Amino acid sequence: ARHAALRGCVLSFRANPFLTEPEEALHVEEDGLILITDGKITHCGPYSQTRSFLPAGVSVTHYPGKLISAGFVDSHVHYPQLPVIASWGEELLAWLQQYVFPAESRFSDKQVAQAVAKSFLSELLRNGTTTAAVYCTVHPESVEAFFEESERLGTRMIAGKVLMDRNAPDNLRDTALTGYEQSRTLIERWHGKGRQLYAITPRFAITSTPEQLELAGDLYRSRDDLFMQTHLSENREEIATVARLFPNSNSYLDVYDKAGLVGPRAIFGHGIHLHEHDFQHCHDTGCALAHCPTSNFFLGSGLFRLFDAKAAKRPVHVGLGTDVGAGTSLSLLATMGEAYKVSLMASPQRLHAIQAFWLATRGGAEALHLEDRIGSIAPGMEADLCVLDPQATPLLALRTHESKTVADMLFVLMTLGDDRCVEATWVNGQCVHQRSQPDA
Ligand code: GUN
Ligand code: FE
Repeated sequence: ARHAALRGCVLSFRANPFLTEPEEALHVEEDGLILITDGKITHCGPYSQTRSFLPAGVSVTHYPGKLISAGFVDSHVHYPQLPVIASWGEELLAWLQQYVFPAESRFSDKQVAQAVAKSFLSELLRNGTTTAAVYCTVHPESVEAFFEESERLGTRMIAGKVLMDRNAPDNLRDTALTGYEQSRTLIERWHGKGRQLYAITPRFAITSTPEQLELAGDLYRSRDDLFMQTHLSENREEIATVARLFPNSNSYLDVYDKAGLVGPRAIFGHGIHLHEHDFQHCHDTGCALAHCPTSNFFLGSGLFRLFDAKAAKRPVHVGLGTDVGAGTSLSLLATMGEAYKVSLMASPQRLHAIQAFWLATRGGAEALHLEDRIGSIAPGMEADLCVLDPQATPLLALRTHESKTVADMLFVLMTLGDDRCVEATWVNGQCVHQRSQPDA
């Protein structure tokens, strides 16, 4: 058997901090020990007690002064858009035409896809992200390249081929039937292979005909363990276009609902301009919304109403998404920091640091219905971990020196932190990223 052990300050959630006092929801084990066998956590507790379970000859990786969290979950991101992150001047629809479609057309070349997939996954790990729901392009090669690299690294990834059969350039369109057949082949090849999971991925209602959405719905319902991801209610012009293209639907969400695309393991990016009946329907069906604050600022899309979505009377699953290339960072720490600012602009409530870290870990895992496997540090869970350094920079060290509580330290990390704060990332019980020492 393959053993590993990590020692440090271990953060784990005992409850949902949107339904319980945040301070009570988070358990902090100041000097904790995590034992891992064959990629799964077997023990977690105080070092003084848990060390007795340490198998003979297994060395402990000690992270003094560091925080050990479950690996971060990014619930919405586009790997082919890494090369066009930070592209100036447009809102959603023009930005897609001007920057995104030309960039995605290069992915018919598998070598391009392989190179970008490699850079992207390496960036995710540098940022402490161990699971992501990822859009590829319309080309099956882009999916092959992504899963091959994820399989090599041992990461648990959700990904799928983008479906687009209208309102896109010729070289980026499939048809309702070829998109269906290609997706089916990719599902057979990759869904459940090692740690890889497949998401049926119609880009959004504007770029799919009703026929394509119908077939996507057939595929989604053909098994009870497939994911579905798309965009929903992000931008006013987009919403007006969808209303014109689907005159018989009552709302944007209803377009997807009529096609049978709303249910558990369906992840809707953005959901900014939703109404109460939409939130209620999301709650009733168990689907998830991906909150993408850096993207929503960057494209000027609007403010996601997180505390409406999480209302205790009918809570909706919410994960955090970076949405790169519209998002401006692959860091979930930076994304949490922006989510805090959005909460101030959108509601009287303020996102608490412990709520933010829950969204980035356990909450994200629940949104994806993967909470039995990832998102927390407990026996039986897959050993995907992120080690954070509260003293990563001189300013962070100065500021966290003043922190009297872990919540304060976490707030400083999400406000000032990014990839520089990720000391190490572990996937499936193996260290896959170790930050290099800064030059003295
Ligand atoms: N809506 C449809 N496609 C996209 C995309 O690639 N990024 C974002 N942010 N919104 C979209
Ligand atoms: Fe997106």
